[in-house]
Amino acid sequence: MVDTATDSPASKVWNARAAPGGAIDDSNPFQPVRVIDDARKLGEGRGAKFTVTLHGVQQNAFAVRWKGRVFAYVNACRHQHLPLDFGDARFFDDEYDALVCCHHGARYQPDTGTCVAGPCEGARLTVLALEARGEELWCVGLARPGVAG
Ligand code: FES
Repeated sequence: MVDTATDSPASKVWNARAAPGGAIDDSNPFQPVRVIDDARKLGEGRGAKFTVTLHGVQQNAFAVRWKGRVFAYVNACRHQHLPLDFGDARFFDDEYDALVCCHHGARYQPDTGTCVAGPCEGARLTVLALEARGEELWCVGLARPGVAG
């Protein structure tokens, strides 16, 4: 799906509050952070990096747009907890069907964060909940365990 001037950013954001059965994990205090000032700037296949504080620890995170929807995860591979990217906010490979860790090639399903191949197969990235606030895109917390993108 390609962004157009008539598309509402809100319609493109995976929003855990609105997802079927979805919700924010309220057991963790969380200070919402703005991911990007205009969600339309996050083009198809592009990534945006930001930081969140989880359990009192600042962590790197990223959002990506895939097939028109935006998903966000803590940027820590489940294999060795290294960032998935080389610092360049590039998370997809040429096949464009998985988020790929640049270190040892773990492949994650873009819409769920589940590792589908590689050394941590079956593990899942930490899923973050997003919310559109006008044109802005905010990270509003951890997604509750079990919530799919
Ligand atoms: S650190 Fe990601 S695959 Fe090894």
